[in-house]
Amino acid sequence: MFRHSIRTFLVSLCALTAASQAAPALALAAPASPHPQFQAARALRAQTLSDLNTAIKGEAFAYASYSLFGTQADGAAHVAVGRLFRTTAQTELNEHLHEAATLAGLVGTNAANLRQAINGETYENQVMYRGFAAEARQDGDAKAAELFTEIAADEGRHRDAFRTALAAVTSGHGTVPAPSAARTVAVPAGLPQVRAARTKANLDTAMHGEALAYAKYMNFAAHAKQSGNSALARLWEGTAAVELHEHFAGEAVLAGRVGTTKENLDKAITGERSEATTLYPGFAKQATAVGDTAAANFFRNTAADEARHAAAFQSALNRLR
Ligand SMILES: [Fe+2]
Ligand SMILES: [Fe+2]
Ligand SMILES: [Fe+2]
Ligand SMILES: [Fe+2]
Repeated sequence: MFRHSIRTFLVSLCALTAASQAAPALALAAPASPHPQFQAARALRAQTLSDLNTAIKGEAFAYASYSLFGTQADGAAHVAVGRLFRTTAQTELNEHLHEAATLAGLVGTNAANLRQAINGETYENQVMYRGFAAEARQDGDAKAAELFTEIAADEGRHRDAFRTALAAVTSGHGTVPAPSAARTVAVPAGLPQVRAARTKANLDTAMHGEALAYAKYMNFAAHAKQSGNSALARLWEGTAAVELHEHFAGEAVLAGRVGTTKENLDKAITGERSEATTLYPGFAKQATAVGDTAAANFFRNTAADEARHAAAFQSALNRLR
């Protein structure tokens, strides 16, 4: 009975993974199990899981943005602001995102993580970036069309490297490939270099996807290291570097994501306040209502952290004036 249930559980998990191939969202939904022995594993309600995924995406985007804002502040000789952006970025990634990922069960076995990444890279290569490139061309945003086309090709290479790694991990034969080197793109303060609202929206979607890929792959790298597969850890980290320093950064240039130090602080304060007063308190309320206590505590504590981030950015802004 127990073995049969395990099989049923795995089958429903596979069906879920297949369903998730159609969308860039994380494949994290909890399978409904009619078997009482899995009730404990099905601790989170669908709404809580969805809210945790929203949190993961937002935290990944904050990490990636603050890293760029920190570099801009350093270049403008606002060294203390640069330090504040970097330490806040670390909190978003290593505390907020890490805790949400743990609650949501983001990280699985090395093979499961590779399958999740192959699905994401395939979607980006075949659907998302091809579509964005075609739309940018139609809208007369040639630079964006060119960048989306280049990135689509990179994602195809990532998928192929992960497939080779998966074969090595599952068969015990062959080697995990070395990652390709990241070409770091500088992101100076600047205005958007695209015209169409649709290109701007696509750039925003793409940047969120790249920031999420970076954060996921760094979590997968930590798991690979713990499990003793250092070659796989290197592939995750090297690919993560491409997603952040090349793809996210290249898109950030066209999107005009980075402004002056003052503008970046303003953007950060707006985001932190909205998380502190609206987003996380709303998630905490929903999680409390359905009895997801650990998630409710996480959302409540994170709301308080974001309020502190907003206050720290505000006092940095006041000192700039
Ligand atoms: Fe955060
Ligand atoms: Fe990729
Ligand atoms: Fe990418
Ligand atoms: Fe924050």
